[in-house]
Amino acid sequence: MRNHTRARHLSQRAAPFTTTTKATSQAERARRLRFTFQPVLTCLAGSFADVPQDLLKEIQALERLFTIDTAKLKQITDRFQAELDKGLSVEGGSIPMNPTWVMSFPTGYETGTYLALDMGGTNLRVCQITLTEQKSEFDIIQSKYRMPEELKTGEADELWEYIADCLMQFLETHHGDTSKLEKLPLGFTFSYPATQNYVDAGILQRWTKGFDIAGVEGHNVVPMFEAALAARGVPIKLAALINDTTGTLIASAYTDTKMKIGCIFGTGCNAAYMEDCGSIPKLAHLNLPPDTPMAINCEWGAFDNEHQVLLRTPYDITIDKDSPRPGQQAFEKMIAGLYLGEIFRLVMVDLHDNHETHIFANQDISKLRKAYSLDSSFLSAIEEDPYENLSETFELFQNKLDITPSLPELELIRRTAELIGTRAARLSACGVAAISRKKGYNTCHVGADGSVFNKYPNFKARGALALREILDWPEKNDPKEDDPIEILAAEDGSGVGAALIAALTLQRVKDGNMHGILHPENYQ
Ligand code: GLC
Repeated sequence: MRNHTRARHLSQRAAPFTTTTKATSQAERARRLRFTFQPVLTCLAGSFADVPQDLLKEIQALERLFTIDTAKLKQITDRFQAELDKGLSVEGGSIPMNPTWVMSFPTGYETGTYLALDMGGTNLRVCQITLTEQKSEFDIIQSKYRMPEELKTGEADELWEYIADCLMQFLETHHGDTSKLEKLPLGFTFSYPATQNYVDAGILQRWTKGFDIAGVEGHNVVPMFEAALAARGVPIKLAALINDTTGTLIASAYTDTKMKIGCIFGTGCNAAYMEDCGSIPKLAHLNLPPDTPMAINCEWGAFDNEHQVLLRTPYDITIDKDSPRPGQQAFEKMIAGLYLGEIFRLVMVDLHDNHETHIFANQDISKLRKAYSLDSSFLSAIEEDPYENLSETFELFQNKLDITPSLPELELIRRTAELIGTRAARLSACGVAAISRKKGYNTCHVGADGSVFNKYPNFKARGALALREILDWPEKNDPKEDDPIEILAAEDGSGVGAALIAALTLQRVKDGNMHGILHPENYQ
């Protein structure tokens, strides 16, 4: 039964917290330029000279737990590549390798006006994107709405109603009277693993990233979403259900034809790339032309769910055990932003409670005991502390956790953050290397987005170094030389990418390619 009071209450909060913004792809490119200045790898701000023996031993133990050497990276990559193939096979494997029915790269000449909806972990973003006559150019207006925390574990109806309310508000703000509006095509970025037998449908395989809403797993989410739109008379027709990685791939390829892989390193972690239909045994029964492209949403967060190759620490095991979906997303739980702060927190609590050193001895660590109280920006701040005496980290611990760390403890804190951040970046490189090798890409660009990629210090440089180790690239002659495979900041996948996918889908239906289209009437 629907709880009307609560639904109304939620709808009242569907107010944009940022005002509309307008940007062009050039602005986006400027944003990308900022990221091409790679930060150098940091050394520890302080030195371990003053660290007492017992703490030093703890640091060394953590180094053994979290460090992944080159040989191990290569072993992980080999298995990763095999698992990508397995995911495409009829029997399937841990990595879902979901075909998405995105069947071409953009040319840069797509045009038209589209809506895009991004149901992210923290925010809900609604955009209107106009792909202009000028090659690879676009205008975008967008509003962001807070995604109430309680919606993530609440009732399905409330989620869809909230989303429909946000869309309606967006249309009313930008188009006035919606009753006269013709239905606008929408690309819906739904960044969870979904079986897509059609581009305009998606059966949720399982919630990831801490979402846990009953009655959605195993069901096609599109009719639920459309029912909420219909109930409110929102003039929108869904053109494509999209994963954020596929959006990232397509948006990046719009402005850079070297882009072959789209990655998200954010709250979750995943990638998409373009496969040929002839190399997807699980689609063989459809007799699609073998050289036709098909974007694959890998859902690589599920890599090694069977724990064959990744060396999990006791902290990783606890994270998994206490998560809403134990046994799922093994790879993601070691890399993604949702978990990095929690891994760090678990290390700190363990060193306080269980080890002879008892860090933060005789202090009240009750704030530190709260699960998921530290997000990855906490680790970023520690790694960014520029001072030899780690004074910013000291303040962070005092202000946020009411803990007063000693200088040696600060050294341990910093090293722990570095170890966790470095492991995440190095593991990520295994996925990129595995796809590149599988596809025989010796050189290409990889478009990446997400808070960890964009904000975590050194993530890019550490990932690039690991890629070099895995793929045995020779030393650079000139430090300014580009790497053969470069991971670059992507264009906006869930905005521009979603609009482009809507445009590409409408166009291919017009051209008579009806593969993977459930509701042709929506594409008139
Ligand atoms: C999780 C989701 C996946 C998404 C990724 C990044 O792994 O399952 O669909 O692409 O997070 O947001």
